Amino acid sequence: MTQWVLPTATSSYAVSLARDASGLLLDGWSGDAAPRPWTEPERLSFETLADTLPLEYAAMGTRQVSGAELIVDFGDGQVGARPDGPPEITFLDEEPRCRLTARFTAGAGRLGWTTVTETDRRHDVVRRWVRIDNTGSSTIELPRAFSAAWELPVGPGARIDYLGGRWSHEFTPYAVTLPAGELSIGSRHGTTSHTYSPVVTVSAVTGGASGPAYGIALAWSGSWRLLVDAVPLRDRVRVGGGVDDESAVITLLPGESFTSPESHGVFAPDGTDGVTRRWHDFQRHALARSTGPEHRPIVYNSWYATEFDVELGHQSELAAVAALMGTEVFVVDDGWFRGRNTDQAGLGDWTPDPVKFPDGLGPLISAVEGHGMRFGVWVEPEAVNPDSDLFRAHPDWVYRAADRELVTVRNQYVLDFGRVEVVAWAKQMLRDLLADPRISYLKWDMNRPISDGGRPGDVHGREWSLQHARGYYQVMTMLREEFPHVTVEACAGGGGRIDHAVLAISDVVWPSDETGPRDRLAIQHGFLSAYPPSVMSSWVTDAPDLVDVEPASFEFRFVVAMAGVLGIGSDLLAWDHAQRRRAAELVGLYEEIRAVVHNGRVVRHGLPADDVYAVEFGGGVEQGHRTCVLVYARSTRPETVQIRPTTLVEDRRYRLRGGPDTFTGGEAAAGIDVPFSVSADADVLVFEPAG
Ligand code: GLA
Repeated sequence: MTQWVLPTATSSYAVSLARDASGLLLDGWSGDAAPRPWTEPERLSFETLADTLPLEYAAMGTRQVSGAELIVDFGDGQVGARPDGPPEITFLDEEPRCRLTARFTAGAGRLGWTTVTETDRRHDVVRRWVRIDNTGSSTIELPRAFSAAWELPVGPGARIDYLGGRWSHEFTPYAVTLPAGELSIGSRHGTTSHTYSPVVTVSAVTGGASGPAYGIALAWSGSWRLLVDAVPLRDRVRVGGGVDDESAVITLLPGESFTSPESHGVFAPDGTDGVTRRWHDFQRHALARSTGPEHRPIVYNSWYATEFDVELGHQSELAAVAALMGTEVFVVDDGWFRGRNTDQAGLGDWTPDPVKFPDGLGPLISAVEGHGMRFGVWVEPEAVNPDSDLFRAHPDWVYRAADRELVTVRNQYVLDFGRVEVVAWAKQMLRDLLADPRISYLKWDMNRPISDGGRPGDVHGREWSLQHARGYYQVMTMLREEFPHVTVEACAGGGGRIDHAVLAISDVVWPSDETGPRDRLAIQHGFLSAYPPSVMSSWVTDAPDLVDVEPASFEFRFVVAMAGVLGIGSDLLAWDHAQRRRAAELVGLYEEIRAVVHNGRVVRHGLPADDVYAVEFGGGVEQGHRTCVLVYARSTRPETVQIRPTTLVEDRRYRLRGGPDTFTGGEAAAGIDVPFSVSADADVLVFEPAG
């Protein structure tokens, strides 16, 4: 029997064809180069063969009593599909990539689906997706068209780690043990959502930190669903997922096709931290366009200092001080455009406000450039205030669900990015804005869910969440292609739209509007379990914590923001000279460590609520074997504090930056005293090779 083995950097994904040709089977996914082919159960009871097989993708009707990823409604009373015969298979090994495609036909040739599995020897992520074609002469509906299924050999049951939350509390880690049953997470927001992040880590009920673990993610920024199905007493757990099957029904007219978003999977023999490390490698080297500082600069952002009260003189003063602090880009947030004095008006009218900027943005840009910084602005192209010239001119450009009254959230409607003319308008608006090449940074925001999406009368109207995401990708892709010098920070009311698709078209992301330092530390702890520090925008602000009201030092705020892409959002004019001098020193320290922070291997020590918590960034050979550890302490911290770095080479000698003593990596791993030289509640330890 033929087996196709797709190699990743450190594992193999092996697939064969089921004897009954019902689909491809996952034979094994591990460090073994050639896993044994799947052996069928000797006896079936109360199930068909297809129900028990580890099928890579199954239609309802192929599997008779178990969950399936594809539901097809042929419109003639027939729901479900089963392959007409064996698939047409293509296997391409074009170093470093490998790709397996299998094309099935069903419904006597009326339908085709092609599953694609792709690996790359440079990282550990398996990418999978499906294309579904209506090859018949009548309309087909797809109430569900997930991207892939992953049969994970962790059962019976599983432990599932995932991230959830709400606005200003994103990326809270959750874990459940599921002995049997289903766990479903997803979004009906039309965007990725603050509620759940589209990624799960699955391990054995007793596994978790040390045993084999699997990460499954969706690269999708519309509504979505991930479904973990732990069938009782089965040694495998099935994870399926893709476009949300509650809010979207995909309609395929004859000749039309649907390509699903990608689902990504990763295997780690070394537990959940191993999954994190492999995701980070993939996100840095396969999704991001670069890993250097050019697209992750130190930003000053005016939002927390001025909110909508933006004005040339004041912004110029802020820019002058921001430059002294060492920031590299000055970004004017919301409030710079026509009629935008509150969140109730102006959204949609993207030219500089004539009262605030009588001569346009030019004078401010010149001032910013004069201080040696780049310039950037905030935009929210997908939304519109009812009180705007754009809405008055185009009231039909917003989503409408039949005759239901339009609903505002944050006083705004969503523009229908499923319409070509709206996407064309957004592209042109951005081209006009960026016609001044000195604007080289955009913060792209989206401040509401897309409730009541739809387009009555359009046969594809129920696909609004898909169309919206695709329209968003088109405009973001245009930015990248036509304005490659522009750095894009993706934001959606904080972390409302962060996923692998967004990481592939943006440079950095804004994980949360919550910047109180201890709250932020908790958000970053969760964020870093799935996404890398090189995209994690983090600003020092004056905001108080909400959850933990314990005071935190000025330095603590900086060391929190140093764990990602440091920025400043404070009212710098309110800082005294000592604070400004200290800030400049801390920015200087960050510049020394940022390559290690952005590219190093992340190890989180403890939890943010512990007396002492640390995040280690192991630089490895690319960073000259430098390792950096950011340490955070509560006021209740013990007298002596030790940390145990795990990314140093055991028998190599190191010294702490600025310190006289040398020690081996093995000695450091046994415990290094933290001097707390930065402040009493935070420290930055830099381990450098000695000699
Ligand atoms: C959202 C963003 C903030 C800020 C405001 C401006 O809430 O997340 O960072 O840009 O919008 O209105």
